[in-house]
Amino acid sequence: MDKIIIKGGKPLSGMVNISGAKNAALPIIAACLLAGGWHRLKRIPQLRDIRTIKSIMSELGTDFREEDGELEVNSDNLKSYKAPYELVKTMRASILLLGPLLARCGKAKISLPGGCAIGARPVNLHLKALVAMGADIYLDHGYINAEANRLAGAEIFFDIPTVTGTENIMMAAVTARGRTVLRNAANEPEVGDLARMLRAMGADIEGDGTDTIVINGVDGLKACQHEIIPDRIEAGTFMIGAAITGGNIKIDGCQPGHLTSLIEKLRLAGAQIDTGDESIRIQGPAHIESVDIKTMPYPGFPTDLQAQFMSLMAVADGWSMIRETIFENRFIHVSELRRMGADIEINGSQALIKGKDRLFSAPVMATDLRASASLVLAGLVAEEGRTEVHRIYHLDRGYEAIEEKFRGLGATIWRERE
Ligand code: EPZ
Repeated sequence: MDKIIIKGGKPLSGMVNISGAKNAALPIIAACLLAGGWHRLKRIPQLRDIRTIKSIMSELGTDFREEDGELEVNSDNLKSYKAPYELVKTMRASILLLGPLLARCGKAKISLPGGCAIGARPVNLHLKALVAMGADIYLDHGYINAEANRLAGAEIFFDIPTVTGTENIMMAAVTARGRTVLRNAANEPEVGDLARMLRAMGADIEGDGTDTIVINGVDGLKACQHEIIPDRIEAGTFMIGAAITGGNIKIDGCQPGHLTSLIEKLRLAGAQIDTGDESIRIQGPAHIESVDIKTMPYPGFPTDLQAQFMSLMAVADGWSMIRETIFENRFIHVSELRRMGADIEINGSQALIKGKDRLFSAPVMATDLRASASLVLAGLVAEEGRTEVHRIYHLDRGYEAIEEKFRGLGATIWRERE
């Protein structure tokens, strides 16, 4: 296993390019199961989770080709509809194979994703919607077994706006018989990116980007070309890096419109932010003001930036309150931040942070993808000595060469083998 070493105390400066969004690439690669032929996908990030979904789909019979930074995907010769536990256990997003496999093959056998560090993360809403569309589903020895001759359109209401649930049912519905209406659907940008790709394949989808999505099933789809949207969570992580170090950076190849809630909160914290069509310039404040946040479904403050923002508040002036409303256990980073001197008190889904003048370097342990990023950010501002972040395979799941990108912004940061 690798670890990342950081010597803090330097303001970030320079420019960084944002990679394609992991959480758009995963459903879009899965959607290639819906039609034969060669799909060409641009801006696929080089991440552990992308390698995982490719290896699962290769087991199913999908072929992949990499050509000058583009990923080509061909599912002409599917030979299985079973996603094995050994691979699914490493990435819950494998549940995104259920909808397209059921639509394409009429059958799917996917290991039921277990919980993860941040919560139980059930998939009951995915399954309930597929049953409403006529699928027979039963759980057996830890596997979801699903069968459907041909899925039928249905009226579906999601009790909670689930991102992958919305994406799974969109993929199941595009070739179902008749109309499917998804109400209380998720409207994250990644859902919209999948809808654009499905339309490029010939699907009839309207309403993506709102909480009601209408899909009229078509008889067949064709391979397409698509460019993935930039990763708003990666961009937000670098923005917080500039704010926490009092630096001044330019973020290129991003979509400021996907980050309005973070921009608002960082301005309240004292940062100067100017936005272009596909870039953001951020100047961190000399003194960080404390700001309260509450995570919400898009366009509210993203839960995937909560841990990173908490690192910023750990060195702000005064008290701040962070409420996590999406996942039941997404404060795991708190105990590690405390080891760096942060003053944080947890009370259920709320964390009360008393800003300190500074944090101290320490050996810390990554526990989940975004918690790892919060520890790197804390290391950038910790004084004296070096912060060692262990188990950074969590980071590699969702950030492409994060230490190289931070080094390109002037940070003293490198990777070592444990
Ligand atoms: C997606 O997870 C993202 N992952 C997560 O990013 C992100 O944190 C999350 O959406 C929220 O924005 C991908 O897109 C691959 P949900 P997802 O279904 O779809 C409950 C990262 O760091 N729920 O929107 O699994 C669930 O427990 C990851 O990149 C049910 O109860 O999240 C949670 O409380 C972490 N039943 C809430 O809904 C269901 O059937 C929202 O979860 C489904 C969800």
